[in-house]
Amino acid sequence: KPELFVDLAGLRLKNPVVTASGTFGFGIEYARVVDLAALGAVVLKTVTLKPRQGNPPPRLAETPAGMLNSIGLENPGVEAVAQDILPELKRRGVKVIASVAGETIGEYATVAERLAAAGADALELNLSCPNVGRGGLHFGSDPETAAAVTRAVRQVAGNLPVFVKLGVMGADVVKVATAVAAAGASGVSLINTLPGLAVDWRRCRPILGNITGGLSGPAIKPVALWAVWRVYAATRLPIIGMGGIMSAADALEFIVCGATAVAAGTGNFVNPRLTVELVEGLNRLLAAEGVVDVKELIGAAHRRS
Ligand code: DOR
Repeated sequence: KPELFVDLAGLRLKNPVVTASGTFGFGIEYARVVDLAALGAVVLKTVTLKPRQGNPPPRLAETPAGMLNSIGLENPGVEAVAQDILPELKRRGVKVIASVAGETIGEYATVAERLAAAGADALELNLSCPNVGRGGLHFGSDPETAAAVTRAVRQVAGNLPVFVKLGVMGADVVKVATAVAAAGASGVSLINTLPGLAVDWRRCRPILGNITGGLSGPAIKPVALWAVWRVYAATRLPIIGMGGIMSAADALEFIVCGATAVAAGTGNFVNPRLTVELVEGLNRLLAAEGVVDVKELIGAAHRRS
């Protein structure tokens, strides 16, 4: 069997496959269909200080090109996650990367500190949600603000790895990644959804309650590979790559572009067992190609071009 173990900025993962934030709930919902302990890690739905109801419905729209969501960071608030959900996941033997957002830099730090104390194995700062008017949206589109959030969280996170989730709108993703790395980020998660809109021309109105949404799925895979490629080339930072991964071959495309871990998001809605099937698929593809260790492939396309 090929070696799938990876060291993601000090986070030891039995394989590179993780879940993309917000597409796997808080993990426990999936335990009936997926052996959580078979995954590299579960990335939780983004958590904020106070519970949030999210945006008005409808909040999902499928298009032939990809999916649009405008959830609006609905979540039960940090206390519920720290007290009930995180301990339950830890009992199931899976590594947990907790996704954090706040309306202020101080809120990011408070939520991060609470989740670290509750046993999170790593943190992911969501600086790139396209569906909220205040807070998280603006932090990732400006390198200095993104660095300030990272610095504040780094101070309370002890020695936990801190990943920063970025999009590709606003400032150049390489500039933001460089800034957060200088501020103490352990790595980056690339990419969040792209802004999009679906419209019903007969009713003459947008489909989503929030009007705009975040586009995900195969439609954004080339954009995501572009971001991973450029950030890896410029920084060699550890990267969690995502955007339209539907197969093990897709996952390997992200890995050769520079991702150390890969996240399945929209694909979980198509096939709830996708993450475990990706692990099986990686084993199969690597064995077929005679690759003994997946780590050999991280960034390999940069060395051959
Ligand atoms: O597409 C997204 N939707 N990205 C996020 O970061 C948050 C999420 C939401 O809750 O709207």
